[in-house]
Formats: sequence, C-alpha cells, structure tokens
Amino acid sequence: MRPILVIGAAGMLGRDLMDELASRKLISIGMDVGECDITNARACVEAMKSCRPSSVINCAAYTDVNRAESEREKAFEVNGAGAGNVARACAETGARCLYISTDYVFDGHKDAPYVESDAANPMNVYGASKLEGERQTAGATPNHVIARASWLYGRHGKNFVTTILAAARRGVLLRVVDDQRGAPTWTRDLARLLADLACHDATGIFHAPNSGECTWFGFAREIFELSGVQPVSLASQSAAEYVSPAARPANSRLADTRLAALGIAPMPDWENALTGFLREIGESRA
Ligand SMILES: NC(=O)c1ccc[n+]([C@@H]2O[C@H](COP(=O)([O-])OP(=O)(O)OC[C@H]3O[C@@H](n4cnc5c(N)ncnc54)[C@H](OP(=O)(O)O)[C@@H]3O)[C@@H](O)[C@H]2O)c1
Repeated sequence: MRPILVIGAAGMLGRDLMDELASRKLISIGMDVGECDITNARACVEAMKSCRPSSVINCAAYTDVNRAESEREKAFEVNGAGAGNVARACAETGARCLYISTDYVFDGHKDAPYVESDAANPMNVYGASKLEGERQTAGATPNHVIARASWLYGRHGKNFVTTILAAARRGVLLRVVDDQRGAPTWTRDLARLLADLACHDATGIFHAPNSGECTWFGFAREIFELSGVQPVSLASQSAAEYVSPAARPANSRLADTRLAALGIAPMPDWENALTGFLREIGESRA
C-alpha cells in the first residue's frame, strides 16, 4: 500500500494530521522543511520519488498574517510557488494533492457565508499568497483538493485560545474584535476531514470549517465560559479600533456545500469542538 505523505508535518495542523492517520492505521510519512523544503522544486520531486505516496497533504505554509505584509516575497515563495512545486511533483509521481487554504482568500464583503464557487478577492498579502497557491495547485494537477479552513487552533501551535487564556491569567485587560464573523476550527476536526478526503476521489475546492459561527469576541467569551478562567476585564472593540498590519475580512463564514453534496458529514459545531480542545489541553472546567 502506498503511504500518505504530509508536508508541514511539524506544524499545528500537520501534527494532529499525523496522529489522525496513525489512529486509522494508515501508513503515513511526515516531512517538514528539513526533509522537504517546498520552495525547492527538486527536493519535492525527490521526496515523492523516495516514498511514492498515494496522496500528499500539503500543510506547509508561511502563516504569519501580519508579517506577510512586509515579507510579501517570502509569503508568495512558500504559499504560492512552493505549493506549485508540491503539486507538480504530485503530477509527476501520480499522487493526489491536497492543499490547505484559507477564508482569507475572500474580501468579506458578501452578506452570507461564502460558497466554494464564490470569486476570491483577498484583502491581505497572506490571503493573496494562499490564493496563488490554490491556482498553482489546480493548474498543476487535476487530481487535487483545495480545503479552505478558518481560524484554526490546536494543541501544537500558537493559537487564539491558549493566547487569550494566558493573557487573562497575566491580568491583561482584554479587548476583542466583535465585527468579524467566522468559524473557529479545531485542527483535530480538520485532520479527520483531510484524512477522509485523502482517501476519497472527489476533487476541487472544499470549505472545511467547524459548523456554526461567531465573532472573535463571542469566541473569547465561550473560551472563558467553558474554561472557568475569569479575565479581569473583557470588552468588545471594532476591527477599526484594532490596529494591525494586515486587514482581515469582516465575513469569514465558509459554507461547506460541497461536503454536503458528497454526503460527507459536516464538521462538528465550533462550541463542541472548543469543549473537546479545552479538555484535551486540561483547561475545561467540566
Ligand atoms: N492557523 C490558522 O488560523 C489557519 C487558518 C486557515 C488556514 N490555515 C492554513 O492551514 C495550514 C496549516 O496551518 P498551521 O496553522 O498548522 O501552520 P503552522 O503551524 O505554521 O505549520 C506550517 C508548517 O510548515 C512549515 N514550513 C514553512 N515553510 C516551509 C517550507 N518552505 N517547506 C516545508 N515546510 C515549511 C513550518 O515550519 P516552520 O515553523 O519552521 O516555519 C511549519 O512546520 C496552512 O496551509 C495555513 O495556511 C491556517
């Protein structure tokens, strides 16, 4: 049986994905930048020739949304050209290629959740670089999946949940944006879906959020409710009041219409996912 290759296997999503594949007893190989630097086309081909994967799940990325504003070239080198290198190596070696993308490919102006066929129009450099990765992936091989995720958190990376809990414990007076809507998504739930899609034969774009929606402020409130941690102060603010280098879409909601059409169950509700995550990291008060 040919293995599933995860690139970016040391990252937040990659590590949960490796655990998920192992729990299904699927043969998997993990590589990160040390074993396969995706900006090096030859390294990608050699990596795939060395293990002949049936599917490659490309979790490798430049993910610093704010820093990307001043490191445009680097963001595009990894998220755009790098994704193209992975996808071309997949085409050359007969592997299915899964690329993880983002809600930030949209400008957030739509007044409803985005469906997979909506036109992308990123409002920051990171989103533009990920959209370039989508285009390069789709252009290199018809046997591809583009899975768009949103607001990821997981135990193996820097994320909103653990960051805000730590800030509350330090007594920071918290102000959180209340006019950007989306779906926080647990990397373990996304990992389950990616394992399903790696073994499926459907191709194209898929939206892959946890179900439901909230604002960042609503997310923060639920984190404190479920953890029992009491911040000294938690107030809402508008995106306009929150100064950051990268603009972010007001509407990050993704409708998973294609999963439903394929008969794949929607991902769990974001509140249930958060409950599971807080239990996993020993932060649940229940
Ligand atoms: N985090 C979110 O909120 C979010 C939301 C939507 C979509 N996504 C997408 O989901 C995917 C996984 O995100 P994540 O949060 O798990 O990211 P992450 O924790 O930053 O993991 C990315 C991994 O890729 C590695 N990497 C960077 N450059 C590489 C290269 N040239 N070659 C090979 N590996 C390289 C990183 O190594 P270093 O750490 O050494 O750089 C890291 O181990 C990404 O495609 C991201 O764009 C993330």
